[in-house]
Formats: sequence, structure tokens, C-alpha cells
Amino acid sequence: MNPYRKDFPILATNVNGHPLAYLDNGATTQRPQAVINAEVSFYKTYNANIHRGLHALSQKATEACDATRIKVQKYIHARSPEEIVFTYGTTHGINLIAYTWAEANMKAGDEVLISLMEHHANIVPWQQLAKRKKIKLSYITLTKKLTLDYAALARMISKRTKLVSVVHVSNVLGIENDIAKIISIVHKKSRAKVLVDAAQSIAHIPIDVQKMDCDFLVFSGHKMYGPTGIGVLYGKQELLETMPPFLTGGDMIISVEKFATVFQKPPARFEAGTPNIAGIIGLGAAVDWIQNKGLRNLRKAEAALTRYAYEKLLKVPGLTIYGPRKRHGVISFNLDGIHAHDVAEIVNRFGVAIRSGNHCAMPLHRRLGIVASARASIACYNTKQEVDTLVRALKEAQKIFK
Ligand code: ALA
Repeated sequence: MNPYRKDFPILATNVNGHPLAYLDNGATTQRPQAVINAEVSFYKTYNANIHRGLHALSQKATEACDATRIKVQKYIHARSPEEIVFTYGTTHGINLIAYTWAEANMKAGDEVLISLMEHHANIVPWQQLAKRKKIKLSYITLTKKLTLDYAALARMISKRTKLVSVVHVSNVLGIENDIAKIISIVHKKSRAKVLVDAAQSIAHIPIDVQKMDCDFLVFSGHKMYGPTGIGVLYGKQELLETMPPFLTGGDMIISVEKFATVFQKPPARFEAGTPNIAGIIGLGAAVDWIQNKGLRNLRKAEAALTRYAYEKLLKVPGLTIYGPRKRHGVISFNLDGIHAHDVAEIVNRFGVAIRSGNHCAMPLHRRLGIVASARASIACYNTKQEVDTLVRALKEAQKIFK
């Protein structure tokens, strides 16, 4: 019996007359009752704005948000809570760096290096920066096995490289990039900063930003059993302190005169306006939930099921899996002669939720020589039965398209 399922009420849902087999966790995970309760309790018993009121509800809401900042700090082993900036998600975090640190520290001719396995959130902001500031955007290539080409990175890096922004775990291939190795290669030849996109790893791999020695790290709450619309940007304090604000307005200021403003220190400097308070509180509950269960236990369960799913899918005739065997819980594949969208639509008839398309990673799909793929992505609550249902449904799809 999977020990985590009972915490997630949605998993008892029926879809098209079948029990839901939710295998789209790369897109968003489900929320445990504890996260739902935390948000409901906020709205029902202490809904108020934070940092603005001397009344009891505002104080309580402010304390709950401060508590989440500390929970997140501990979860990723940051040095201090001031290194934790609340954002609306991974995309917001990357844009924040592009519009603040990069605007202030990069000039025409400088280079941003990203990899060919990034999702669009870690591509488009750099394309826009390149246009705004005449910066060069370059891609670290992949090896034949589709792993990051570390030798190519070592060749590409130069004094002009000011930022390397890489994904921790690919949302298409499930490959984990060796961030420590990347940082050591980068620092041999340059003083470039390193930004890690941890959207797909934050709920699955223990992260220690101090050990990793990354400069920035971003992730979303909704991919770690938390709410949508809340995310985190971690930045080394000494860097955050030098950065100009991104969005401006209330709550990020010390004083405002008619024509001048004094900004807060980080993290408040980067948190303009009323934040997603319920989301922050829900994120705190999600961190608690993961910590209570033990991230290492969750990871063990996911790893065993990923191996099972990989072997099962490999045995389906006419099915191609992209990327190496060694991976985290993401398996992208195609069935010969059937478009990925048709695959997703047919398995949905059996209650199976998977993603299809380019998974917001068009350049990687080009590199794979395909326009789309189907993707099963696993979380701690998934079971062998769900994988078996997917495999049976894929065989049904093959019968329909025969
Ligand atoms: N990056 C998200 C996914 O992989 C959107 O589905």
C-alpha cells in the first residue's frame, strides 16, 4: 500500500469511469489535505494583509509568512531567511534575475550560457535580454546520450560569460545535471554567476544551496505539493543586496517622496505589492508535509516506480523513450505512427493523465528530431497499478490506430 496516497483527496477521483491515474506531476503535483487545510484556515480564520496592520489578524498572517520563509530557508539550506524571495513561480524568478541582476551587471558583448534542455522559462527571458542589451545567448550542447556536454561547456566558457543558467532536472528527459561540476567548470575560466532552475527537482532531490554554491536558484510551489502562484528565488545575500528592484510599489519601500523612493533591503525589495499570502502559507505547509514524510523516503519510492515504469514502457512494441535509463521520474516517449496528443487523449479515456506536446521545451524537441512527445511524470503517491493502467491504455491506442 502506498503510504502517501491517503493524504491527497483528489487521488480518489474517477475520470471517465476509471480511477484517476495522475501521471502529470511534471506539470503540477497534487496537494495534500494539509496544504488545502492551511489555505482554508487562513481564509476562514485570519485573512488579512501582511506587514500593514497592527491588528491581530494581520500580525498572525505576517507571522505565518515569516515562518514559511524560515521553513524554505531550512529546506534548501540557505544561510539566512533574507536569501529567500517569494515570487509567483519559477518564470517570475528567472525574469527577476534577467531584469535586475543581468540588467545591472551585463553589457553588450557579454554572454549568457544556457543548455539545450531548458524549458521556455529559462530561454525566453534571455532572448529578450539579448535583444535589449545586445548580449550573446549561447547553448551548451548535449552529448549523443542526451546528457549535458560538460566538455562543450568547458570549451565555451570565457571571460565574456557573465551568467550560466541551467536546469537541475530536465522536464523532458528526467536527467539530473551535475550542478557542482558545472560550477567548478564555470569558475575555472570565469567569474560568471550560476542560476539553477530547480522547478523539477525541488520536490524530489535534497538541495543544499550552500554546498551547491549556486548564486541563484528558483522553483515553484505547485511542483512540490504546494499552491500555484507562489515560488521562490534564492540568491546569495551579497548579490541580492547589490541588485536593483524588479517590480516597484508598496511594501518594497522604506520611504517615498514625491519624486524619489528609498527601497527596502532584500528580500522585501523584491516583493512589491500584496503577495500571494494564502500561497505562502500553503507553501509552508507543503514544506512541512515533505519534511514530515522525509524527502529521502519520497525519493526512494519515486526512484523504484520510475525504474518499474521505464522497464514496462520499454517493452511496449513501437515505443521510443527519450534519454538515458538513469533519470528522475520523468519519461517522455512516442508511439510509432501516433501523435502524442492522440496518445494523451486515448489514455485519458482510461483515467490516465499524462502531458503531450513539447512540454515548453521546443528547442530540445528539435534536437530530438520530433515535434512532440507524450510524458509520464511520477510523484511519491503513484503506484505500479497506475503505470500498468498507462501501459494497457497505450496498447489500446495502438489497436485504435492499427
Ligand atoms: N515545465 C512545466 C512542464 O514540464 C510546465 O509541464
